[in-house]
Amino acid sequence: MGQLRKNFLWGGAVAAHQLEGAWQADGKGVSVSDVMTAGDVDHQRGITDGVLPGYNYPNHEGIDFYHRYAADIKLFAEMGFKSFRTSIAWTRIFPNGDETEPNEAGLQFYDDLFDECLKYDIQPVVTLSHFEMPYHLVTEYGGWRNRQVIGFFTHFAETVFKRYQHKVKYWMTFNEINNQANYHSQFSLFTNSGLKITADENPEKVMYQAAHYELVASAQAVKIGKQINPDFEIGCMIAMCPIYPLTAKPEDVLKAERAMQTRYWFADVHCHGRYPEWLLQYQTNQNYNLDITDADLADLAAGTVDYIGFSYYMSFATKDNGAAELHYDEEHDLVPNPYVEASEWGWQIDPVGLRYAMNWFNDHYHLPEFIVENGFGAVDQVEADGSIHDSYRVDYLRKHLVQMKKAVIEDGVDLMGYTPWGCIDLVSAGTGQMSKRYGFIYVDKQDDGSGTLARSKKDSFYWYQKVIKTNGQDL
Ligand code: BG6
Repeated sequence: MGQLRKNFLWGGAVAAHQLEGAWQADGKGVSVSDVMTAGDVDHQRGITDGVLPGYNYPNHEGIDFYHRYAADIKLFAEMGFKSFRTSIAWTRIFPNGDETEPNEAGLQFYDDLFDECLKYDIQPVVTLSHFEMPYHLVTEYGGWRNRQVIGFFTHFAETVFKRYQHKVKYWMTFNEINNQANYHSQFSLFTNSGLKITADENPEKVMYQAAHYELVASAQAVKIGKQINPDFEIGCMIAMCPIYPLTAKPEDVLKAERAMQTRYWFADVHCHGRYPEWLLQYQTNQNYNLDITDADLADLAAGTVDYIGFSYYMSFATKDNGAAELHYDEEHDLVPNPYVEASEWGWQIDPVGLRYAMNWFNDHYHLPEFIVENGFGAVDQVEADGSIHDSYRVDYLRKHLVQMKKAVIEDGVDLMGYTPWGCIDLVSAGTGQMSKRYGFIYVDKQDDGSGTLARSKKDSFYWYQKVIKTNGQDL
């Protein structure tokens, strides 16, 4: 019977643009997240043409981690973290993205940050691109629809691989690369790939082209990274929301199968090094004539990943809509699952889905897995004495950990670690809110930007400390 690895990487996860702030400090350039305004549960975040006066851009300040990271990492160490997942803001290293020489001040910041982690034996787990490509690459090159961006990305990757080769062992290339399967979502296309779709473009075709260039860039980066340090472990990062058929009706089952294919073919390319047959056929049938060269296909085959990093928050459900063509359109084809509840933001809560997802990945790819995001976004209430009783968060995490352990102990999944999302409160990627909180550590900052930025421990802080101390025995 299996058990959690002895060196299981318990920790927490964040992304540079959601907490660092200091958006113009020490030579940093403007990233795509710097032109995104605040939204809420009913209103999408806006994307402005550059940084304009009079708008609220919550990522500009974040939670000021850039200046406060030492004290925050001390709190992570107090919880017993063995790992800390963050990303490197591309724009701190190459402010515009197309420079030849890196920005030394940006490189120094991450040296200091990683040193601070290592001081406490906390392993940095680093995502190269987490929703934060240089905005200049959007305005001048059209984002990832442009093949030239592959070279800019691999230059960035090589620079940071070389610089941190003795400090960082665990890497991931593109965060939640498969969100853009929802190609009707302006948010997904912009955050994943810096794409703004024009009136005469087919968004699905543009997405497939951009995703192809990203997958080639990822594969090239894996190869470069291994040459720099063969001990690197480089993974992909997939947003896993299993899509169930609403009923046992065969057409619903087939629809759900196509939905899974449409959302997860990205993992096929990362892990198998080639496109799945259904997608090649689909692209042919659509006459997409994508720019995919033989050299690209060789790169994909040579740059497969070492492990599957994935986020898990929720599951989806779908059903047949009677269309003649078998096609899944994420914006229109999802239906509520009557068997699960949802958060205030409509995210369906499904702990069993995590076990299902881990088995699904294992059956398809036979690679180690790493849960690099999981968590419960909720409004927290600060009591008069400053305490925060977030039992709902503990409840969510506990139920997911029970299923995670079943997948390892009963089903034999090889799991590297668990880094729940937003271990310290930070700016929500989807809404730009602070009030959608995930942290074990509360940050006194409100949606309107007010607050002292002071940190305090929630009840979940002590619960997670105990979980780590007992290597997941005491939940
Ligand atoms: C994932 C992202 O989609 O989910 C994170 O990798 C994000 O960047 C997290 O913050 C939670 O989503 P949200 O919209 O609640 O912040």
